[in-house]
Amino acid sequence: MCGIIGYVGSRECRDLLLEGLQRLEYRGYDSAGLSLVTNGAVGSVHAVGNLQNLRDALARSNGHLKGSTGIGHTRWATHGRVTEANAHPHWDTSERFHIVLNGIVENWTELRDRLKAQGAEFTSETDAEVVAHLIASHFDGDLVEAVRLAYNDLRGHYAFVAMSADEPDVLVGARKECPLVVGLGDGESFIASAIPAFMSETRNVQLVHDGEIVAVTPTGSRFISPDGTAIEREVDRVDWNDEQAEKGGYETFMLKEIHEQADAVAETIADRTARPDGVDLPELDDELLRDCRRIVIVACGTSYHAGLIGRYAIEEWARVPVEMDIASEYRYRNPIVGPGDLVIGITQSGETADTLAAMRLARERGAKVIAVTNIMGSQATRDADGVVYTRAGLEISVAATKTFVAQVAAIYLLGLKLAELRHALEPAELESLVNELKSIPHRIEMLLESCSDQVREIARQHHHREFFLYLGRHIGLPVCLEGALKLKEISYIPTEAYAAGEMKHGPIALLDSSRPVVCVATDMPVLDKVLSNISEVKARGSEVIAVATEGSGHVAATADQTIFIPRTDWILQPILAVIPLQLLAYNIAVYRGLNVDQPRNLAKTVTVE
Ligand code: F6R
Repeated sequence: MCGIIGYVGSRECRDLLLEGLQRLEYRGYDSAGLSLVTNGAVGSVHAVGNLQNLRDALARSNGHLKGSTGIGHTRWATHGRVTEANAHPHWDTSERFHIVLNGIVENWTELRDRLKAQGAEFTSETDAEVVAHLIASHFDGDLVEAVRLAYNDLRGHYAFVAMSADEPDVLVGARKECPLVVGLGDGESFIASAIPAFMSETRNVQLVHDGEIVAVTPTGSRFISPDGTAIEREVDRVDWNDEQAEKGGYETFMLKEIHEQADAVAETIADRTARPDGVDLPELDDELLRDCRRIVIVACGTSYHAGLIGRYAIEEWARVPVEMDIASEYRYRNPIVGPGDLVIGITQSGETADTLAAMRLARERGAKVIAVTNIMGSQATRDADGVVYTRAGLEISVAATKTFVAQVAAIYLLGLKLAELRHALEPAELESLVNELKSIPHRIEMLLESCSDQVREIARQHHHREFFLYLGRHIGLPVCLEGALKLKEISYIPTEAYAAGEMKHGPIALLDSSRPVVCVATDMPVLDKVLSNISEVKARGSEVIAVATEGSGHVAATADQTIFIPRTDWILQPILAVIPLQLLAYNIAVYRGLNVDQPRNLAKTVTVE
C-alpha cells in the first residue's frame, strides 16, 4: 500500500511533501523518495526504511534539493527488492520526466522491451519505471498529452503522478482503480493518494474518478478522459477534524479498513498474477511447494478462518492433503509432523505467540515452514523457511478485516502455485482462475457499493437481538465462523457458528422466532443442502438472513433477506461473502453504541502464551 503526494505552487515544498508522506505512513512502506524541479532540472533523493532515513538522506545532500514543484512517494515493494534504486520517484533516460506510482502495471515487461529497443535505459527492477520512459517517448511538448497517450498504453490497477523539467508548473495524474485526489489551495495545488496527505494545507478537494487524467497547476486543475474529452469536476469541501482525517473521513478505522479491502487484495495479488497462465511467488523456493506430501496450516482467530478457506482451495486445486489446526491446540498436542510436511503459519501481526510456537515446533521436527504475514521483519518472518507477505497496509482496528481478505488472497495464490507446480489443473482452468482472482478487487468495490445500505438496514432491524446463529457448509462454513467472530468480538452478542449438517444433532433446539440465523448460501457443490437447511430453520420460526451469489433465485425465495455477492468462481466467493458479514457486525455494534475499533478485553496482537 504505497502513498503519493505532489505539490505545485510558489512555496518551497520539500517539507510539505515530507509532511504529506508522514500522514500516509499508516499505509505501511519500506522505502521512500522525493523529486523536485530545481532550475530547469529534476533532482531526486531516495532512502530505504522509514521517513527519518529519507530526511537524513536529504540532509546529506546538503539541501541542494529545492523547488516549488515536487512529488513524493512511500513504497511497499511489489516488483523488485527493497532498494534505493527501486524506491520512487522513477525517471526516464533523460532524467527530465519523473513519476510516482501506486499499484501495478501489468504489461510492464512488454512495454519495457519495446522502450529498451528504442534506447531507453532502465535503472530499477520496478514495473513503475516503465511509465516514466513511456511518457518521455510520447512527449512532444505537452506533458498532459504525453500522459494521456501513455495511459492508453498501460494495463493494470494503478494511480500515478508525472512531472517534467520542461513544464515545471504542472503535475499530471492518472487513475486506474487506485485512489487519487486533488487539493486546491490559494495559488497552489496538491495531488495525493489520500486526502489526509494535504488536509492541513487545504480542504478544497476534487476526486479523480476511475479512468481519468488530471493536470494540476498552481491556479487549478483540468480533468480529461483517456480520449481527451474535457470533464467537469466539482470542488468538495472537506470538514473533517484531525481524528476524522486519520480515519480517511470514515466514522471508524474498522469501516475505513473494510473499504480498503479492494486495495488490500489488489496489492497482495498484484505482480504475483501478472502472468495470465499462472502465479509468481519468487519469494518461495518452488521445491518447498512441489515436494511436500502434506500441508498443515496453523493460525489463531481470524487468521485460522483464512486458513480454513485455504484448505478447501488447496485441496480442490492442487489435490494435496491439508490439515488445519488452531495453533494453541496444535502446539500442545504432540503433533505428528516432520520431513515432507509443509506447515503454513498464518498471522497478520507475525507476533502471535501460539502461532509462532506451533511453527517452531513443526520446524524442530523437520517440517518446512512458510509464514503468511502482513508485517515485515516480524518474528514469524524470522522463524520460517519462506514468507508470503500480505500487503494490506497497517490495520488499526482491533477487529481484523482487510488483513483477513488479504490472507485469503495470499492462500489462493499459494493454492494456485501448488496446482501449477504439480500440474494438478488443466492450463485453461488455471488461467481462468488467475483471471477470476484478478477481478476480485473490482468485485469487492461493486459489492461494497451494492450491499452497504441493505446491510445497514438489516442491522437496524436486528441490532437488539440477543443471540445470532450462523450456519454454513463446505466453503461457506469458514465465512460463517468469521462473520460470527466479528459479531461477538465487537457487539458482545453471543453467537454460534455451526456446520449446517450438524443442526439436527442438537443446535436445532436453539431455534425460535427471537433468534435470527445468518446463512452463507453462495455457489458451492452442496448449495442444495444449504437450501434444505434454510427451510428447516424457517420451519422453526427463525428469520433467515442469507448471503447468496447474484442470480440465486432459490435462495432469495427461501430466505427472509438475501444479500447478493457478485458471481465469480465458487471457490473464490468466500473472499466476497465475508464482506456483508463484516458490515453486519459493524453496523449492529454501531447501532448498539459500541466502540468498534477497540472492543473490551481485546488487544490487536496476542504475544503472551
Ligand atoms: C479478530 C482478530 C483475531 C486475530 C488473532 C490472530 O478480529 O483480529 O482473532 O486474527 O488474534 O492474530 P494474528 O493474525 O496477528 O496472528
